[in-house]
Amino acid sequence: MEEKIIVESPGRINLIGEHVDYNGGSVLPAAIDKKIIIEFRTVKGDECYIESTTLKKTFKLDLKKISKSKIQWENYIIGVVYNLLVLKKLKIKAFKCKIDSYLPIGAGISSSSSLICGLISGLNHLNNLKLNHNEIIDIVSAVEHNFIGLMGGIMDQFTIVNGKKNKLILLNCQNRSFKYINSNFNPYKIVLINTNVEHNLADTSYNERVKECKEALEVINKKYNKYRYLVDVEEEILYEFKNTLKEKVFNRALFVIQENKRTLDSAENISKSNYKEFGQLMYKSHYGLKKQYEVSCEELDFLVDFTSSYDEIIGSRMMGGGFGGCTINLIEENLVNDFIKSVSKAYLKKFSIKLNAFQINIDDGVTVNKN
Ligand code: GLA
Repeated sequence: MEEKIIVESPGRINLIGEHVDYNGGSVLPAAIDKKIIIEFRTVKGDECYIESTTLKKTFKLDLKKISKSKIQWENYIIGVVYNLLVLKKLKIKAFKCKIDSYLPIGAGISSSSSLICGLISGLNHLNNLKLNHNEIIDIVSAVEHNFIGLMGGIMDQFTIVNGKKNKLILLNCQNRSFKYINSNFNPYKIVLINTNVEHNLADTSYNERVKECKEALEVINKKYNKYRYLVDVEEEILYEFKNTLKEKVFNRALFVIQENKRTLDSAENISKSNYKEFGQLMYKSHYGLKKQYEVSCEELDFLVDFTSSYDEIIGSRMMGGGFGGCTINLIEENLVNDFIKSVSKAYLKKFSIKLNAFQINIDDGVTVNKN
């Protein structure tokens, strides 16, 4: 019998803890109420039909002949099917799916992992594969690494799968232990401002940063041979290598170690409603991403700097992989509309680019509903 389901797969924000997930660090993300909606139905035979209403594109996929496409967006679907069918040797029926995205692409809110999570969750349900959350997270990573070419960590997929309404997730990416933290920042609202400078992380220096961190860890372990992850290295120990490591590699490692501490301090501050202290850590995080990790850009820096003259804005920083995308800001509710007007005007004047600003709410992770 033909079955039809609707999958709702959210984007994610990250309050703090950037570029630490693949270094074994802690992050503080949450799923949001902006989503990708995927309508799935099973069909007879071996041929699948995929439609993206957002990209206004379609393609067919024969389950008996799966190979990488030259068209990148098709690889999201092909990668999922390949991983389930060929690598995991799971049985999946042919399907038709329609993808409707309400997540801006390349904005640092993880439209890419959201799509992959949604596809896997849908096929999991339609074919009764009984994959649990951790298995889904691992398959998303495999698709990103092997098919999309992004050597990312687990923050995005973990959040998209485990998100909970009104809760932040304090996630230790080393062992996947996590706890939910209330996300009430009253009287401040979380506002995202999209530079509209799009990035495809796989084409940026993201993977280079992953390599630089690995290099730092290898050099340190030549002497100490005991650190599994870069975040485990104490700052004093890292300083022993200041002259041995390349300057930029030292700076990357210093950022990672400090950012991980900031995340843990942030979780504590938020739990105690010390929002202003947390906001200061957001600014420090941005400064590190700009100067030490070098993943910011002029447009992001402009948006963060613009907030500094407002007492009603307690924190601002670039969010996600960087090289474009959004800033995340904590803004007193009364100021939100006026601020958006002023910053939009100034940004347009400076870069001749229109920005998009939106308030988000923290929502549940991916859901699958029968239609
Ligand atoms: C991207 C990756 C994540 C994480 C962030 C930076 O979103 O997919 O794994 O590394 O960048 O924190």
